[in-house]
Amino acid sequence: MTQTLTIRRPDDWHLHLRDGAMLQAVLPHTAAHFARAIIMPNLVPPVVTGADAAAYRDRILDALPSGADFKPLMTLYLTEDTDADDVAAAHASGLITAVKLYPAGATTNSASGVANFDKVAAVLERMAEIGLPLCTHGEVTDANVDIFDREAVFIDRVLNPIRRAHPHLRVVMEHITTRNAVEYVQAHDTNLAATITTHHLVINRNHILAGGIKPHYYCLPVAKREEHRLALRTAATSGDARFFLGTDSAPHTDANKLLPCGCAGCFTAPNTMSILAEVFEQDGALDKLEGFTSLNGPAFYGLPANDATLTLTRTAPSYPGHVDTEEGPVTVFDPDIPLNWSVA
Ligand code: NCD
Ligand code: ZN
Repeated sequence: MTQTLTIRRPDDWHLHLRDGAMLQAVLPHTAAHFARAIIMPNLVPPVVTGADAAAYRDRILDALPSGADFKPLMTLYLTEDTDADDVAAAHASGLITAVKLYPAGATTNSASGVANFDKVAAVLERMAEIGLPLCTHGEVTDANVDIFDREAVFIDRVLNPIRRAHPHLRVVMEHITTRNAVEYVQAHDTNLAATITTHHLVINRNHILAGGIKPHYYCLPVAKREEHRLALRTAATSGDARFFLGTDSAPHTDANKLLPCGCAGCFTAPNTMSILAEVFEQDGALDKLEGFTSLNGPAFYGLPANDATLTLTRTAPSYPGHVDTEEGPVTVFDPDIPLNWSVA
């Protein structure tokens, strides 16, 4: 039985760090394990311009614990008013790594997102020209579409038309939750990849709804039925380089989760690597963990893999049940399975 596993230091290709006191409290948990992360721009107000991204990057760097080795990879929040020249300048200077598309109203702080996709065609074409990837929150917001179908409908109604109109645009389908999304990626081998979260590899919709409502398992896109979770597991553990880790670790205080209308998001930064080691071992694929967490993402983004390493040992991990912030406690995701791997 393998007792230790050393892999290249992982990166997180989809992460919410928030700002202020929350940023201060959650950032050390990511920086402890991950070398880089794609930083989501859905602050209030959102990170829309290059200047916004530079200021946010500086706040993140200021909040890093001393000695931490962590690089935030910044993104811009695409709006119908986004200026293609500003995006191109932010990319040329090395400030940003991607642009994020939120359909207006799809998730937390997405009110400034895109309602009319024609209005962003010029920016998308410019991004295709300069090789700047688009990260998509892949859910339609049409009230007539069942929430469990919103990802599959997004692929047909929004994503596929965008990819046909801009065939050179590099797209990351973020936090995919369905077999449909897995199959869409597998069917298109150029300029397309997908991130998968830690929590969607371990929970299905029963975790949220069966035996009492569990707000800490509510996130967007919402977890789907078991067959979809199994499709995600197969994709993640397959070694297919088009699939890589984006935790979507999305901290909200317990007070904001445990409400009649509670926030969406699972906070997985502290225990993601322990959970993933368990998942990959359960599926007989420990040898594929490094590809998923540390190699496939950099390859898609055209960045070198990290030189530093991270070692996991076969010991039950200890991590806090919640992280205290000045705004209140944030509950750490409970994977509901025994964990046997710790980050050394
Ligand atoms: C994210 C958040 O809280 O910012 N929530 C979530 O459930 N994943 C937004 C998002 O990525 O959809
Ligand atoms: Zn997210």
